[in-house]
Amino acid sequence: MLARRTLLGAGLGAALVAVPMSARAGTTSSEADLEARVGEVRYSEAEWRSKLTPEQYEVLRRAATERRWTSALNYEKREGTFKCGGCGSPLFNSSAKYESGSGWPSFWQPLPGAVTEVTDRDFFMVRTEIRCAKCHGHLGHVFDDGPAPTGLRYCMNGVALAFEPKDGTAA
Ligand SMILES: *[C@@H]1O[C@H](CO)[C@@H](O)[C@H](O)[C@H]1NC(C)=O
Ligand SMILES: [Zn+2]
Repeated sequence: MLARRTLLGAGLGAALVAVPMSARAGTTSSEADLEARVGEVRYSEAEWRSKLTPEQYEVLRRAATERRWTSALNYEKREGTFKCGGCGSPLFNSSAKYESGSGWPSFWQPLPGAVTEVTDRDFFMVRTEIRCAKCHGHLGHVFDDGPAPTGLRYCMNGVALAFEPKDGTAA
């Protein structure tokens, strides 16, 4: 069900593991990949595996991409907040959601400070990966073909998100 990025992703993982702890602690590094290891919410991979469903784990922790049109959140039209499926941090206001036709939940703007950008060179393309600012879970990518007012398309994996309706009823 999930398209995993294995080849180049494995190389990146190995490189990160090789970085000494001291280098990761001071996060002024422009190497955004290093920053990705020091989110405010930190769990071991074993803890993440136990917290998340296998599908959530593959996307949030291993940067897999869910198959298009598989997330019910594509069709979510209620007012509310889209939160991180990993740590619950609020990420997007429903007022910034739009139908992009891509098959993935799409937004033109995140909540302030909610996400971080990481340069993604997998698949021989340079894309801008979007991660949760708090737990650094992989959410998706941002592209510059979105609608006004930002012109941005935050293309998110629905499985990486959790929707909380404004009225507080169950999603
Ligand atoms: C979401 O956007 C609406 C409309 O702009 C606004 O009234 C509401 O306060 C926003 N909610 C959050 C959580 O930012
Ligand atoms: Zn998170």
